[in-house]
Amino acid sequence: MGIILILSCIIGLVVNAEVISRGGFPNGFTFGTASSAYQFEGAVNEGNKGDSIWDTFTRRPGRIMDFSNADTTVDQYHRFKVTIKEASYELRKLDILSRKLRTHLRCLPLSGIKPYATLYHWDLPQALEDRYNGWLSKQSIEDFERYAYTCFKTFGDRVKYWITFNEPHGFSLQGYDTGLQAPGRCSIIAHMFCRKGKSSTEPYIVAHNILLAHGAAFQTYQIHFKDRQGGLIGIALDAKWYESFSHKDEDTDAAQRALDFSLGWFLDPLFFGKYPLSMQTLIGQRLPEITPEMSQRLVGSVDFIGLNHYTTLYARNDRIRIRKLVLQDASSDSAVITTSSRGGVVIGKKAASNWLHIVPWGIRKLARYVKDIYGNPPVIITENGMDDPNRPFMSLNTALQDDKRIRYHRDYLSNLSAAIRIDGCDVRGYFIWSLLDNWEWNSGYTVRFGLYYVDYRNNLTRIPKASVQWFKDVLR
Ligand code: NOJ
Repeated sequence: MGIILILSCIIGLVVNAEVISRGGFPNGFTFGTASSAYQFEGAVNEGNKGDSIWDTFTRRPGRIMDFSNADTTVDQYHRFKVTIKEASYELRKLDILSRKLRTHLRCLPLSGIKPYATLYHWDLPQALEDRYNGWLSKQSIEDFERYAYTCFKTFGDRVKYWITFNEPHGFSLQGYDTGLQAPGRCSIIAHMFCRKGKSSTEPYIVAHNILLAHGAAFQTYQIHFKDRQGGLIGIALDAKWYESFSHKDEDTDAAQRALDFSLGWFLDPLFFGKYPLSMQTLIGQRLPEITPEMSQRLVGSVDFIGLNHYTTLYARNDRIRIRKLVLQDASSDSAVITTSSRGGVVIGKKAASNWLHIVPWGIRKLARYVKDIYGNPPVIITENGMDDPNRPFMSLNTALQDDKRIRYHRDYLSNLSAAIRIDGCDVRGYFIWSLLDNWEWNSGYTVRFGLYYVDYRNNLTRIPKASVQWFKDVLR
């Protein structure tokens, strides 16, 4: 026992001491950072911007931990030129579709940055929510297609990588089941009253419409732009890795079910033209039908898969939850208990957010799973990162010395490199969330995900943390 323990420590040390460099990744592999309009731009009433569902949501009391909103956030709307300078120290930046995209794009080539634009990162115009209940309506499919067409037409000469949706699994559940995020349908308090009527069906309808909207945008691109612009289209999915809690079959099945209800919910329709069998069986009639025509449109409608991967959890079976799910008592729950510890041992250290455990080997297993199940499609890690707490009395020096973040990225990258070199996974890019500290949805400003520190009390000044120099060294 003693020997085994010592050995595993040494192995741990050897792995941890690995120096990550560009050389550990294939030629043409893209490194970058990720951000989103709503979390960065601010300027809430400028540039002809109407309200989005998140503007409405943040005005409701009690939704955001520190009672903040994103009216100003890090003021990217006005400071985008500074941001581009920060990003272009060798980082290529995953940017977002913003009100100033046109101007952004004019500046980007000069800085050597290659933009990856996301069409939808959660801030649906409130007008569409009011007019027809947003993503719950089929009208959203047609409107998204038209919006995508306009973006392709206007910016497609400069943007060659498009991401249609960011984390549709996350916002289908949080927006329409738990109600924790915009548009906040079926809040937890109201849950007992609306379970059967709304939340037991809404997340599935929303996800279905999103899949169809994605398919429509993909097809529009192929018909009108592909030949001339030659760009690629993907979708970014939130992808936790679920490790079976034990070797028992029921837990192994539970881990598979958790993957089905998150990643498979979107990837199975895009690759196989149908929802995962476990979803069909457990959700039954509440799961919308994928007709043969839909299936034909969906299959193959991605040039690459974006994975937003941060963490790993254990998955454990729960018979009561299964029964509830079948009886429509619960909705989008995958009838799995997830936990971060086993036998008193945690799966990995926690970052600031409760949901974020640091488990570097999870990224390798996830990449391998996508390779094996979906036939090794091109994958881009569209987000990976960890947060520190934003403590009011923490000294600036302590906040800037983010060694934990450096270790996080070094270890995740080392596992990703192994997934590519040893397991043969076709991973083509890696983007750190995020370039700057920013407004983290329900957590407001209580956590910091950035490579750059933002001084919220001093004119939003940006100061590089230690991780900036580390990332530059990796990319050198
Ligand atoms: C997922 C989301 O895409 C992004 O908006 C969020 O801030 C990060 N992950 C961190 O939670």
